[in-house]
Amino acid sequence: MKILVTGGTGYIGSHTVVELLNNNHEVIIIDNLINSKIDVVDKIKKITNKDVKFIQGDVGDYNTLSKIFSENKIDAVIHFAGLKAVGESVKEPLKYYEGNIGITLNLLHVMQEYNCKNIIFSSSATVYGVPDKLPIKEDFPLSRPSNPYGTTKLMIEYILEDIYKADKDWKITLLRYFNPIGSEKTGLLGENPKGIPNNLMPYIVRVATGELKCLNVFGNDYPTHDGTGVRDYIHVLDLAKGHVKALEKNISGVHVYNLGTGKGYSVLDLVHTFEKVNNVKVSYKIVARRAGDIAECYADSSKAEKELNWKAELNIEDMCRDSYNFIIKNSTKL
Ligand code: WQD
Repeated sequence: MKILVTGGTGYIGSHTVVELLNNNHEVIIIDNLINSKIDVVDKIKKITNKDVKFIQGDVGDYNTLSKIFSENKIDAVIHFAGLKAVGESVKEPLKYYEGNIGITLNLLHVMQEYNCKNIIFSSSATVYGVPDKLPIKEDFPLSRPSNPYGTTKLMIEYILEDIYKADKDWKITLLRYFNPIGSEKTGLLGENPKGIPNNLMPYIVRVATGELKCLNVFGNDYPTHDGTGVRDYIHVLDLAKGHVKALEKNISGVHVYNLGTGKGYSVLDLVHTFEKVNNVKVSYKIVARRAGDIAECYADSSKAEKELNWKAELNIEDMCRDSYNFIIKNSTKL
């Protein structure tokens, strides 16, 4: 299939493009490089020894997208493009509503115009808000996420559901990610956010390399086994495989899947595992809770296992080892 991947030079997007190419799909990437680098395209070609077309541009720009669809018969779209910093979304909600929902509306208009009605959407476990019980299942009630970033994900899910209700030809898959970490095995691709990382793993890695002094652990008074926040960390390679499985299965309708491991690890679990597998020290100190954080969150992914024949295979040690490998391999170039 010929697949348009929006945000395909980003962390999850680039890993998914590698998996698509390795499964003999043809890929076109559109990315505005706001949170990624153009050298990722060459790295993808090097890892797969396959060609990939790259177009630098905005998914929100009608002419750019229309040109891609008029020049290529696109079979499906995997839509990653968007802003994803939770804290920034609280400070600049309009930027997020325009940057995530606005661009998606443009994408859907152009897809409809060119009769391409097959989309896999990068959603997030944030749409569940604070879960009443665990593990989280896809049919749990959705509640207003605690930040505009999460609200944009939920609103786009609603938009896609309404599009399907109006036109039953659409094939729509909503993939709700838990906490993606790790990197592919060569260490060429990885998570490298610009500035001070918001997320836990990129912060741990930079403390381990000495770039940052000490990890702030946001609270140790949660009702969890060691008081620190528990999350379902999933290796980005498993996540990428989940997208290819969803693409190859996509049938008309709206299909929702949790992509997680079903296991919850605390902040200190991750710190200690990281230290052990990489034989490094990660200094940390306990500080106040971060606003908007929930205590515990992990997935029931049995629906994806049953319907997509997909199950996360890599463990927390792999995630810690591969995250560190990426930074060590690239520390001089980042
Ligand atoms: C994980 C745990 C923190 C940083 C967010 C988004 C979600 C997705 C993944 C995009 C929590 C603790 C963190 C630090 C810490 N993003 N922590 N010190 O908040 O679960 O999910 O990122 O798709 O949509 O909501 O991930 O990595 O920020 O936090 O103690 O410096 O680590 O309190 O318990 P989160 P995270």
